Amino acid sequence: MIGQQRELTLRFLAEPTDVNYGGKVHGGVVMKWIDQAGYAAAVGWSGTYSVTVAVGGIRFVAPIRISDLVTVRTKLVHTGTTSMHFAVEVSARDPMGGETRLCTHCVIVFVALDGVEGKPVAVPPWRPASDDDRQMAGYALKVMELSKGIEQTVERYLLASEPLP
Ligand SMILES: CC(C)(COP(=O)(O)OP(=O)(O)OC[C@H]1O[C@@H](n2cnc3c(N)ncnc32)[C@H](O)[C@@H]1OP(=O)(O)O)[C@@H](O)C(=O)NCCC(=O)NCCS
Repeated sequence: MIGQQRELTLRFLAEPTDVNYGGKVHGGVVMKWIDQAGYAAAVGWSGTYSVTVAVGGIRFVAPIRISDLVTVRTKLVHTGTTSMHFAVEVSARDPMGGETRLCTHCVIVFVALDGVEGKPVAVPPWRPASDDDRQMAGYALKVMELSKGIEQTVERYLLASEPLP
């Protein structure tokens, strides 16, 4: 097993190709960065291929400008049997100076899969050690409950409605 790392940081410049119609970074691009950082963190923790199962509590707090220096920080806040829950913060600043702004935050959940059948496999457990850790683990569980609740509601509506043409 490789050395497990609870935190991971990606840092890069927002490129002109990341732009949305209003001249700032596209929300979908920010979500891609979150997914990439989460993937690197999940495979690093589990040592196996992992897939995104859910993203919850996503909030776009402030825009990111093209050419900003972007930091995507992930922190493992809960492990289930096969799932890993990461709190993610995306922040940005002008690389020539200025304050760092928190731009987006969320919780992203990955599931580790075995390499043979692609079935969920157990991940190394992580146990909260401080009050902060316990608070974040509680937050992650709350986000997961909400996500599963929404999933069940959506499934009920999908079953009740006519299939799309
Ligand atoms: C991820 C996947 C393998 C899970 O399969 P599944 O049959 O639902 O498996 P399980 O029911 O055993 O659930 C696996 C884990 O996901 C967790 N999970 C399921 N739904 C969840 C949700 N809405 N929110 C958070 N966690 C969830 C379960 O709690 C379980 O975690 P645990 O073992 O720690 O308790 C399957 O849903 C899948 O292949 N999804 C597509 C993944 C994908 O393509 N992602 C995008 C590209 S990477």
